[in-house]
Amino acid sequence: MCDTMKRSIEIDAQTVLRNFAGYPVVLVSTRDNVLTIAQVHYFSFRPLTLGIGVHRKRHSYGLIENEGEFVVNVPTVEQIEAVKACGELSGRDGDKFSRVGLTPVPASKVEACLITECPVSIECRVMERVDLPLRTWFIGEVVAAHRADDFDPSENLYCSRTHYRRIGDILAPRR
Ligand SMILES: Cc1cc2nc3c(=O)[nH]c(=O)nc-3n(C[C@H](O)[C@H](O)[C@H](O)COP(=O)(O)O)c2cc1C
Repeated sequence: MCDTMKRSIEIDAQTVLRNFAGYPVVLVSTRDNVLTIAQVHYFSFRPLTLGIGVHRKRHSYGLIENEGEFVVNVPTVEQIEAVKACGELSGRDGDKFSRVGLTPVPASKVEACLITECPVSIECRVMERVDLPLRTWFIGEVVAAHRADDFDPSENLYCSRTHYRRIGDILAPRR
């Protein structure tokens, strides 16, 4: 039972996401385009699924809807400038890969490309979609994955509503 008042002030609910220090940020590639995505999460383990939230006004939205596939590429902190650029430029205005200095290469199971510069790439085939106001979550089954030998996940790039950042200390093992 909630019988004591929590000692806090009520805030504007629309601003509450500012209170999360970070979310992983990824580069999602299709056959010919790439965009920056912070709305990414796993949805189930068997089958393993990854979902991405895409605004329906994005050029990439129509590409993913038509192609039914996407690749989640995990950048490192070193790729911050490419991540910013992929989140500002649109594939509507020409080839984004060459403009931001990223190299697309063929994937193994899907027609969407992998990004050479990203140490982890996860090939997904759209299984479900959830339409919310303005945004659609494409939930993709993971059909193949690639990882660079020397990859260290502590180099993952994170972003909050206001900043980019590196992940912090390990506090305890998780069972
Ligand atoms: C840090 C960051 C995170 C972003 N996250 C998302 C996201 O989760 N979903 C989305 O639709 N757009 C997101 N965007 C915006 C798109 O990446 C951006 O509008 C991009 O230019 C769309 O490219 P396109 O027109 O080639 O599809 C994000 C941008 C940045 C910089």
